[in-house]
Amino acid sequence: MSRKKTESKTSKFPSPTNVLILGNGGREHALGWKLKQSKHVAKLYFAPGNGGTSGVGGLGENVDLKIEPVNTKHCDAIDYFVRHHNVGLIVVGPEDPLAGGMVDRLQKYGHRVFGPIEAAARLEGDKAFSKQLMRAASIPTAEARVFTNLDAALTYVESRDTPVVVKAAGLAKGKGVIVCDDNEQAMAAVREIMEDHAFGDAGNTVVIEERLSGQEVSVLALVDGRNIFVLDPAQDHKQAYENDTGPNTGGMGAYTPTPLMDDAMLTEIERDVLVPVVDALRRDGIEYKGVLYAGLMLTAGGPKVLEFNCRFGDPECQPLMMRMKGDLFLIMNAVIDGTLDEVDLSWDKRCCCCVVMASGGYPGKYENGKVITGIEEAEAAGDGDVFVFHAGTTRDKDDQVLTAGGRVLGVCALGDDLKDAQQKANAACDRIHFSGAQFRRDIGYRVM
Ligand code: AMP
Ligand code: GLY
Repeated sequence: MSRKKTESKTSKFPSPTNVLILGNGGREHALGWKLKQSKHVAKLYFAPGNGGTSGVGGLGENVDLKIEPVNTKHCDAIDYFVRHHNVGLIVVGPEDPLAGGMVDRLQKYGHRVFGPIEAAARLEGDKAFSKQLMRAASIPTAEARVFTNLDAALTYVESRDTPVVVKAAGLAKGKGVIVCDDNEQAMAAVREIMEDHAFGDAGNTVVIEERLSGQEVSVLALVDGRNIFVLDPAQDHKQAYENDTGPNTGGMGAYTPTPLMDDAMLTEIERDVLVPVVDALRRDGIEYKGVLYAGLMLTAGGPKVLEFNCRFGDPECQPLMMRMKGDLFLIMNAVIDGTLDEVDLSWDKRCCCCVVMASGGYPGKYENGKVITGIEEAEAAGDGDVFVFHAGTTRDKDDQVLTAGGRVLGVCALGDDLKDAQQKANAACDRIHFSGAQFRRDIGYRVM
């Protein structure tokens, strides 16, 4: 699907510049991989990066800069680095620094930064704010109530006769949402968040909402303050095991495009969800620039918003970058400059499937430090259609790649259709080895 295409204006960038990417996940590796293809990009720096973003044959250089918490000391260090390394663009990948105001601060030093400012990132960082805004703008979403008082929350849950979802309002590393089957579970969830402070201050406010059912779709859009460009839709697979069983994870795989949403539905989402959000923020004097990600559930009563994220999804970003045809450096700069209507935003027609290889035991306890082999072989066998993005990896002094996290690799493959892409990605995973590796072979099964 290609919905907009015009000639890009490149004269703004007469000589190549270096780019600093903040973050260490598969998303940041994928953004770097795509940025590196731009003739306007000289060198990539990652802070802190991972085993795929530096090293022999690597993409760039990992630098020792702290990105959390967002404070003067850390921002001063980033500013110093940027000024001394000819960095012309800073990309903020993850939600925590965005919600913490990293973009605002780095802009004040005079740098060009991709990502929304703190007030806009509140859409993700504060679920109570986001719910209130959706209600005010009549955006379809689950019915919800917001509580800051434990007893009031418990009384409300007790009075309900349909299942609810209990959410810590603040950022909780993707773990603050508890989907409950009955009131007993919901009471326990409220206590866990508000009484035991399982997610710290993120749970000082809780959102309790009706539990919806249906397929989930990720609709991401680039927003430049003025223009909204909706990316091809993707579907994430949150549960750890095949057939969507087991505990929720950060995402075990994703593919794009998905047949669950056609162009007409995307236009509807743009009109009924994205435009109203951006307009509502603008009325409050907040300009949204960056990626706006709507997590939707396709219910019997139509699509409803589960959450907003203020960044690229991980792992959705990886297959999206594999299919993006335009120059990401120019696209990111167009978002900053409010000129998205001037850049090439077309897509590779093929489908891309990303299979996450995770550490044994993830999302529970797992061990780090396992040697990973076969990545280069898997890519070579893929004939240009396979790329392996690193997430939880590091390198030892001999440049060996080791596991260093729950989600270790995002193995992506392009194919003529989803089945072809999935088969290629699974075949690539079979060539990659580390002790305890687990992955789902069924990414995309719900639409096949
Ligand atoms: P969130 O971070 O709010 O998107 O929630 C994480 C996950 O919890 C979502 O991807 C859904 O799988 C699930 N979830 C969130 N809200 C609801 C809801 N109202 N009904 C059913 N499932 C939900
Ligand atoms: N893949 C879900 C997320 O990035 O939040």
